[in-house]
Amino acid sequence: MNTKWIIAAAVTTALATLSTPVLAAKTDSNLDAKTTEIMKRDFRDKGIAKAERVNQDELQATCSKYLDKLPAKLKLKLEAAQLKTIQWPADGNYMGDWKAGEKLAQSGKGMTWSDKADEPAGGNCYNCHQLSAREIAYGTIGPSLLHFAIKRGDGPDAQRHVYGHIYNAKAYQACANMPRFGQMNILTEAQIKDLVALLLDPESPVNK
Ligand code: HEC
Repeated sequence: MNTKWIIAAAVTTALATLSTPVLAAKTDSNLDAKTTEIMKRDFRDKGIAKAERVNQDELQATCSKYLDKLPAKLKLKLEAAQLKTIQWPADGNYMGDWKAGEKLAQSGKGMTWSDKADEPAGGNCYNCHQLSAREIAYGTIGPSLLHFAIKRGDGPDAQRHVYGHIYNAKAYQACANMPRFGQMNILTEAQIKDLVALLLDPESPVNK
C-alpha cells in the first residue's frame, strides 16, 4: 500500500464518520422535537432546580429558531422589549464595593438543586470573562473585561452600560450567551452595584 493510498483511505474514513451525524441532522425534521423530548425526560424537579428551566421563553425560542442570527428589525424589537425589563437603581447610584464584587465574580454558587432559595448566589463572571489580571483561571465565552474602565471610561454612561449588561445582557444583544442576572433574580441590585464597581472603580484589580 503506498502512502498516497493510505492517506486517501484515512481521509475517506474520517469524512464518512464526520458526515454521518450532519446528514442525519439535515434529514431529520423532528430533531428539535426529539431533543426537547429527551431534555424533558431527563430533567426533573430537585430542590430549587425545577425542570421548567428547560422550557425556553419567547426570546430564547426565537434565537434558537434563527440560530442566533435574527433579522435586523426583529433583533431591535426584541432588544427594546428586554431593555424595558431593567430596573435601574432607584437612588441613581450604580457603584458599590469592588471588593464584594470580586468575591461575587469568583463565586459560582447558586441555582443548583443543593442551594437554598434564600442564600445569595454568586455571579460566576470568571467562568466566561477575564477580569482581574491577578486571576489566571477564566473562561472565554464572553469578551475580556480586563482594564474595562481604562478602555471605556468610568463615568455615568459606562456605569449604566455595565449595570444594564449585568441586569439583562439581552437588552443589548438579543441572543447574548450571558445569563440575565437581574431579570432572572439571580443577583440583587446591591450585588450588581458591587460588580459595576469591580469593573469601573480605578482601585479595582480589573483596572490595575
Ligand atoms: C455564560 C457566560 C457568561 C457569564 C457567566 C457572564 N457573562 Fe458577561 N458576557 C458574556 C457574553 C457572551 C458577552 C457578550 C455579549 C454580546 O454582546 O454578544 C458578555 C458581555 C458582558 C459585558 C459587556 C461587555 C462590553 O464590551 O460592553 C459586561 C459588562 C459583562 N458581560 C459583565 C459580566 C459580569 C460582571 C458577569 C458576572 C456577573 C458576567 N458578565 C457573566 C458571557 C457571560
